[in-house]
Amino acid sequence: MKVLLINGSPREKGCTFTALSEAAGEITKAGIETEIFHIGKTPIRGCTACGLCRKNDLGKCVYDNDSVNTALLKAKESDGFIIGSPVHYASAAGMLISFLDRCFYSGNRYFAYKPGAAIVSCRRGGSTASLDQLNKYFTISNMLLVSSQYWNMVHGNTPEEVQQDLEGMQTMRTLGKNMAWVLKSIEAGQKAGIPLPEKEAPQRTNFIR
Ligand SMILES: Cc1cc2nc3c(=O)[nH]c(=O)nc-3n(C[C@H](O)[C@H](O)[C@H](O)COP(=O)(O)O)c2cc1C
Repeated sequence: MKVLLINGSPREKGCTFTALSEAAGEITKAGIETEIFHIGKTPIRGCTACGLCRKNDLGKCVYDNDSVNTALLKAKESDGFIIGSPVHYASAAGMLISFLDRCFYSGNRYFAYKPGAAIVSCRRGGSTASLDQLNKYFTISNMLLVSSQYWNMVHGNTPEEVQQDLEGMQTMRTLGKNMAWVLKSIEAGQKAGIPLPEKEAPQRTNFIR
């Protein structure tokens, strides 16, 4: 089993990385593989709503020059996800949102029926709004949301400050333990022959009047 931890900060080894690493440590201790994937610093375009990924059932984005499709290949082979972001103007980081829009629109199948959690790092404010924003990718994708003892946030401007947020770091460790427990429970369910829920043919009702 493997958990893919996505670092959506432009700072590869900053505060978000520090928090993700703390959660990853507990997952590794539980005998589950982890990988921290940095989305990178080079610009990531937003979804252009071309629809070609779905029309042609590509399972990837037609734009192949950034980290989106690389991440999707990894997502396909992963059993759980933790997505981390710094708070930028009381929101998840803009480039991460562009990245996630395209990952989830074109590669939804790689996330469905798997557990996911979001974590955020901020200096002071905007953490809960950013968490809500990130959790919405999971809750429109048939995923299981994994929680912790507190909302998944750490506070600080530097990795050293984040290390001093003892409650935040504990929240990350608890999240890691909970993620490992959920993954092992899913695996036990699969071994006991519990099937995935039956899927209905999709209804699409647009609110146009
Ligand atoms: C463009 C920008 C906007 C930010 N906006 C906020 C904010 O709204 N609220 C906040 O508490 N911190 C804000 N910060 C601070 C970062 O969220 C904080 O330093 C975070 O821990 C950095 O994580 P990182 O090292 O993983 O990038 C902002 C930082 C940047 C660069």
